[in-house]
Amino acid sequence: MADIRNIVILTGAGISAESGIDTFRDAGGLWEKHRIEDVATPEAFARNPALVQGFYDARRAALATVEPNAAHRSLARLEAEWPHELLLVTQNVDDLHERGGVQDVLHMHGELLSALCGACGARSRWDGPLSDAPACLACGAPALRPDVVWFGEMPYQMRRIYDALARADLFVSIGTSGAVYPAAGFVQEAAASGARTLELNLERSEGSHWFDESRQGRAGELVPAWVDEVLGA
Ligand code: NAD
Ligand code: APR
Repeated sequence: MADIRNIVILTGAGISAESGIDTFRDAGGLWEKHRIEDVATPEAFARNPALVQGFYDARRAALATVEPNAAHRSLARLEAEWPHELLLVTQNVDDLHERGGVQDVLHMHGELLSALCGACGARSRWDGPLSDAPACLACGAPALRPDVVWFGEMPYQMRRIYDALARADLFVSIGTSGAVYPAAGFVQEAAASGARTLELNLERSEGSHWFDESRQGRAGELVPAWVDEVLGA
């Protein structure tokens, strides 16, 4: 690991699975219980806002019943002890990285605990329901929606992510199926910049073949072991 300085980590739903948060595409996952086109597109929200608000209200309320796991906590230790550049990008909209102790998390798909005003674009921290159409704290309009990136919308902070990938010496993907772009393409961006690439996932994913190394297992075991390795513990 001596030649590793700049690290980019991408996490997906699999890092939160052991905390009890459903993934999307595993057996029993969210996309088996709900249709994406009913709850995770702008068209769905325009067609039936109450159904979409209810879907995210339930996921937001469930955050109070789950705790970060060993994988989340080990990434906080890495952030605290790693002496060079580290960017943690998550596709997850839960707050378990933060509650596990990570200070700087880039939520490229937004956050359940943030509300976005459809009228003025203001964001506000929000831990309650949105289905009762609360007023925007900035403009007063009853136009708050989940601050979550839906299919067809642009993920957040892509420039910051691509700049970090261009500088990366190591790219690590944790708990994601590699099914959805642009996140699924980050491994190729990192490899093109000369970074080494490592996948930590329960099973081989749609993108495993792009990685220099792919380790299968539970994040709660694989991630702490990898952090020990990279910190030379
Ligand atoms: P995309 O077209 O790249 O998505 C491709 C994948 O998304 C497919 O392989 C499939 O797994 C799934 N998908 C998309 N539409 C689907 C549908 N109608 N039915 C079933 N599966 C479907 O995604 P996009 O439209 O380019 O999305 C833009 C961004 O929004 C992406 O980064 C995506 O990850 C994000 N997003 C976030 C959420 C969320 O709940 N946070 C939900 C959807 C999309
Ligand atoms: N440890 C490690 N990996 C796990 C675990 C675990 N305990 N449990 C499940 N996994 C893996 C699965 O093998 C799967 O490859 O996590 C991955 C979860 O994949 P998805 O359910 O597709 O979730 P994700 O990759 O985060 O989805 C990407 O799609 O719907 C959109 O925006 C949404 O952010 C989401 C994006």
